Amino acid sequence: METRVFRFNQQSKDDIITISSEVIKQGGLVVFPTETVYGIGANALDKEAAKRIYNVKGRPSDNPLIVHLASKDEIGLYAKSVTSDTMKLINAFWPGPLTIVLHKTDRIPFEITGGLSTVALRMPSHPVAKALIKASEVPICAPSANISGRPSSTVYKHVYEDLFGKVDVIIDGGQSTVGLESTVLDMTTHQPTILRPGAITKSMIETILNKSVIDETDVKSDEEAPKAPGMKYKHYAPKGRVTLLKGTHKQIIEHIRQMNQPIGVIGSNELCKELSSEITFPLGPVNDKELIAKNIFLALRTMDEKNIKDIYIEAFEEEELGQAIMNRLIKASNHHIIYLK
Ligand code: TXA
Ligand code: MG
Repeated sequence: METRVFRFNQQSKDDIITISSEVIKQGGLVVFPTETVYGIGANALDKEAAKRIYNVKGRPSDNPLIVHLASKDEIGLYAKSVTSDTMKLINAFWPGPLTIVLHKTDRIPFEITGGLSTVALRMPSHPVAKALIKASEVPICAPSANISGRPSSTVYKHVYEDLFGKVDVIIDGGQSTVGLESTVLDMTTHQPTILRPGAITKSMIETILNKSVIDETDVKSDEEAPKAPGMKYKHYAPKGRVTLLKGTHKQIIEHIRQMNQPIGVIGSNELCKELSSEITFPLGPVNDKELIAKNIFLALRTMDEKNIKDIYIEAFEEEELGQAIMNRLIKASNHHIIYLK
């Protein structure tokens, strides 16, 4: 099919949003930038449009989609029993990278919730995402804009690789600033439960709610059944084999120098500058977790573009944002971690 590509800029902003929102209204698919990752959007109230997303992505139909809203006030249209705790979270973190799972109303078709009676809702902060949802006059369901199992797309180039010719419109809005998908928080359980870690961390949520929150996000092996249906599938995998290296920079460098075949290395700027002969992707300074998170998926896909078969990645501390970073890296490595001594 024909895919129209728009490069977002202030001059043509209104035209791009008008054309793209028409496509959504007519049941088409629009890839748009969000602050976390790019999303493949469709009218969340139109089950036929939603089905097209599953086909294009190659996504199992029991893996539900996140519904993106243009304003906080719309929550009552799509979710039942919205508690004061949920309102506190929305007021603190929306628009932004927090997805909240709530009991759905009848407006939301089961086709987009994978048959569940709950719905995952999020209000993105990216200006293009906000403008598109508002102009479409419907909520937009959108999974990350990648073929199932591949690393999520944070730049246009990677959206193009996976989805050009398969969707109606792609809007190029530059690199996503957060770089990791939103935190998914289940508010239908007795105690709030984090199902996927992201930039809104456990301690940030606990501070707002003034109570403890359960963390269900330990990366599980394939046999265990996680609560966010999507978390059970193989994820974020580049084509090359990924190995995580846990240790000091000195230990990592020694380990890498022993290898004689060509390899790729993803790590902090401090680590990468010590390595000359390997193909490296420096993510950012070791203490700048925001920049490291922003560049993770870009780095994984860049290794594929360079056809690197063996990819070694520095393991980071799992505190705060580091937890979300390591969650993605452990999955990308399929739990292949070497603890250096
Ligand atoms: O940052 C993001 O969340 C991006 C952008 C585009 O907004 N979207 C995204 O969507 O990452 P996706 O489809 O790749 O991941 C959605 C995750 C999956 O793990 C899915 O299982 C979970 O959210 N999810 C969706 N609805 C749910 C529900 N009702 N209950 C539990 N988990 C749910
Ligand atoms: Mg995804």
